[in-house]
Amino acid sequence: MTTILAIETSCDETAAAVVEDGRLVRSSVVSSQVDAHARFGGVVPEVAGRAHLDILTPVVTEAMAQAGVTGSDLDAVAATIGPGLIGSLLVGVSAAKAYSLAWGIPFVGVNHLEGHLHAVFFEDPDLALPAAVLLVSGGHTMLIEMVEVGRYRLLGQTIDDAAGEAFDKVARFLGLGYPGGPAIDRLSSEGDPNAVAFPRGLRGEGYDFSFSGLKTSVINHVRRNPELATADVAASFQEAVVDVLVEKTRRAAAQVGARSICIGGGVAANSALRERIVKAAHEDGLKALIPSRSMCTDNAAMVGATAWYRLGLDGPTPLDAAADPNLRLRLDP
Ligand code: KG4
Ligand code: ZN
Repeated sequence: MTTILAIETSCDETAAAVVEDGRLVRSSVVSSQVDAHARFGGVVPEVAGRAHLDILTPVVTEAMAQAGVTGSDLDAVAATIGPGLIGSLLVGVSAAKAYSLAWGIPFVGVNHLEGHLHAVFFEDPDLALPAAVLLVSGGHTMLIEMVEVGRYRLLGQTIDDAAGEAFDKVARFLGLGYPGGPAIDRLSSEGDPNAVAFPRGLRGEGYDFSFSGLKTSVINHVRRNPELATADVAASFQEAVVDVLVEKTRRAAAQVGARSICIGGGVAANSALRERIVKAAHEDGLKALIPSRSMCTDNAAMVGATAWYRLGLDGPTPLDAAADPNLRLRLDP
């Protein structure tokens, strides 16, 4: 049995988790910085780095206490090494390296995106592959074929805004505050998704995504029609995003002969997306793997799952490995 302490500080959540053999979550603690950033309407990198510094040690202590482990029970310590905000990544990476030295256990640097992909293994450790995985977060929108565990082929990605970024920007314009995704999700349940036919960027064409035209269209439409109910605008916007995400994922799954359809990343917490993906997979006779909401948004358990797999495959990460704000996912050609 391999017990890993994992740390995630790539953006605005300070998180620590204890994970056994990459699949069993013994504890997962996430401390959100939402309150610290809300008055600025978005994540302020300097504020995020400082908040991670303040809260990381108590978060790690809490994760270890909940799991009932001490340093001597751990086999490795992992941290997200990129991509993300450099000042935030450095806090988690430096702490993990210090624990590694203090406890004499290996350090494992984890790619945050691979972390989001591995969250599906908490739902099904024996995921039927190949899988079509839709990875939708605040910084990324990618459609990936998981050929085998650890082998990824990029089918498409956004050519402008990430899906989560579109949710956040539209929410901000509508005065719904930050973070925008959960606010639009909530409000949409009271609105009519067919109230406004917003454009479906690149629908039916290839596997790349485009959301910046949709965002502009929402802004122009609301300015021209100020009487529109905000709930109707939110629901119609969400419908346009979800339509495109589901249509492309479904088509990609058919093309690669996928046995499962998976979603991951913060936007995968969206109620409409979750429902529609399950329905599409069911209609197409595929298995849908939908991680719990807390495993879609940033957390350290997914980092622990990936670290276990990477430790077995690549061994420990050297202690001189640097945090990389632009780290890419290693892809198959
Ligand atoms: O994966 P994540 O927690 O952090 C990044 O790696 O970016 O994703 C955060 C993004 C934000 O843009 C947030 O608005 C969006 O996920 N999000 C949602 C929902 N919950 C979080 N978007 C739509 N519906 C939600 N329920
Ligand atoms: Zn993320």
